[in-house]
Amino acid sequence: MLAEIKDIASTLAPRLIEIRRHFHSHPELSGQEYQTAAYVAGVLSSCGIHVREGVGKTGVVGELSGEGTDSRLLAIRTDMDALPIEEGTGLQFASRNKGVMHACGHDLHATVGLGTAMVLAQLGEKLPGTVRFLFQPAEEIAQGAQWMVEDGVMENVSAILGVHVFPSIPAGLVGIRHGALTAAADDIEIFIIGESGHGARPHEAIDAIWIAAQVITTLQQAISRTQNPLRPVVLTIGQISGGRAPNVIADRVRLVGTVRSLHPETSAGLPDWIEGIVANVCSAYGARYELNYKRGVPSVQNDPALTQLVGEAAEEAWGSDRVLILTEPSLGAEDFSLYLQYAPGMMFRLGVAGKDRLNYPLHHPLFDVDESAIVTGVVTLAYAAWKYWGF
Ligand code: NI
Repeated sequence: MLAEIKDIASTLAPRLIEIRRHFHSHPELSGQEYQTAAYVAGVLSSCGIHVREGVGKTGVVGELSGEGTDSRLLAIRTDMDALPIEEGTGLQFASRNKGVMHACGHDLHATVGLGTAMVLAQLGEKLPGTVRFLFQPAEEIAQGAQWMVEDGVMENVSAILGVHVFPSIPAGLVGIRHGALTAAADDIEIFIIGESGHGARPHEAIDAIWIAAQVITTLQQAISRTQNPLRPVVLTIGQISGGRAPNVIADRVRLVGTVRSLHPETSAGLPDWIEGIVANVCSAYGARYELNYKRGVPSVQNDPALTQLVGEAAEEAWGSDRVLILTEPSLGAEDFSLYLQYAPGMMFRLGVAGKDRLNYPLHHPLFDVDESAIVTGVVTLAYAAWKYWGF
């Protein structure tokens, strides 16, 4: 079956490159993927795949069943949205939508999703079970997976696979990570509420700016003393505002930041941990506070059995020297994790770095991929899907 899958994929390669370039030159922002979705739906329908549009707002779902009797339903998720970045690559097929760019490789992801669907559709009745293709919108704003889930895409799903490009891995290689792949990312907003007064008479006021500085310093120090160093936490206050004049003590400061962690237990404890520090620092100096802790996406935790499955599929397809076991997770966030609350899943990294050229990071205006990675991704996913039912 592997040889057959590889054959179909390499025959499809020129068409897939065309599709990827089409997506690349027509990027759409999160939640506005109308043309991309219509294009995806068109390709799926032309392969005889049952399609539902407008799922999760601008998402698309395709479903394909073989004649096999395996009742397990496998979902394959790719994303479709682009970023508000002005493309600087100068490529022939660069963005035609000014100020919007596929700088995170979601053009390639959607293409890999379509390629996998095309390959599996050609296997047709031989398929042992049902596969559901999720083309998700709005990953970059960490909303799309939630929208898709609310529209029921995880009903009856027994496992889910996903893929993300990675510019520091050479094209032709597949990156496999056991356990945590990405971080939980939450948002915090803290108001420090003091009392205004004359800049010359601090003892008659409660200086919210000075107390905010204490809060930030204490939070950063407390990470090193009260959080398990083997379970990383990164806290960044990225925005601070308060005060009105040089000689007026500020009565109110707003701090806004992001908190990232890898371990689910650590993540669960973060709201109380932060509140404890903020409350105690404020009460020591007579200030009040408000804390808004907004949960973002959880950490992507790869399922052990599915990680083994994808790793084996990639090794059989490409040889063990082309499968990179990743020793480190990323503190980036990925809303693939939301699907994992409904079924076990696995996301792998797809190398897209080209030889003899500079490879820019994700979200960079010069980000570009080696398109040979498309076939690597398609074969890996299609073969992993095939093996899933034999599992
Ligand atoms: Ni991305």
